[in-house]
Amino acid sequence: MALDAAEIVIRRGEQRDIPAVAALLHETWHHTYDPLMGAEAVERMSRAWHRPEALARQLTARGARFLVAECDGAIVGHAYARAGRQNAVFLARLYIDPAHQRRGIGTELLVHLLPGFPGARILELSVVKQNRAAVDFYRRCGFVIRGESTEDGVALLLMRRDIEAIPGV
Ligand SMILES: CC(C)(COP(=O)(O)OP(=O)(O)OC[C@H]1O[C@@H](n2cnc3c(N)ncnc32)[C@H](O)[C@@H]1OP(=O)(O)O)[C@@H](O)C(=O)NCCC(=O)NCCS
Repeated sequence: MALDAAEIVIRRGEQRDIPAVAALLHETWHHTYDPLMGAEAVERMSRAWHRPEALARQLTARGARFLVAECDGAIVGHAYARAGRQNAVFLARLYIDPAHQRRGIGTELLVHLLPGFPGARILELSVVKQNRAAVDFYRRCGFVIRGESTEDGVALLLMRRDIEAIPGV
């Protein structure tokens, strides 16, 4: 579904957004990964990785971009990317509230991330191999699989694409 620009605002995250971003990540992680990894493991990882103080540090991290998507004053999406090796940008997080998925918000967040990295040529990420919906989304956005790895027993796909080819940029 096309994104209704009047409804969705994409902007840089601010300190006041941190509780809502932490809540969004917590809910979306359980929705996405519970069926793949079990709720207990997801709870443990989410608590460790989405601590408000850690997220707050990322707001101002050098060479990084922290965006939120807002709908009627509520945070419904979040993306975080940081400069990677050489001309690459690493997409560390892209999460959309389950109730707002398939509205074009993920695509729009990707597009808005890139002006923050003017010299970058490549966008890369790792995605849980079993997360077929996300793999399909990234494929649809032009990413290709460049390798595989395992982290804490979880199989990951490494995906990449040239930045020039992202629609809308
Ligand atoms: C994956 C995710 C980021 C995609 O964002 P989104 O806003 O829902 O996706 P968009 O609406 O921009 O989708 C664009 C296209 O990608 C493809 N796509 C998106 N979600 C898909 C899904 N669940 N299954 C198959 N294809 C999908 C479709 O081709 C879609 O176009 P269409 O809706 O016109 O068919 C989002 O659904 C999400 O947060 N999922 C849960 C968390 C997650 O897995 N994040 C990625 C971690 S690496």
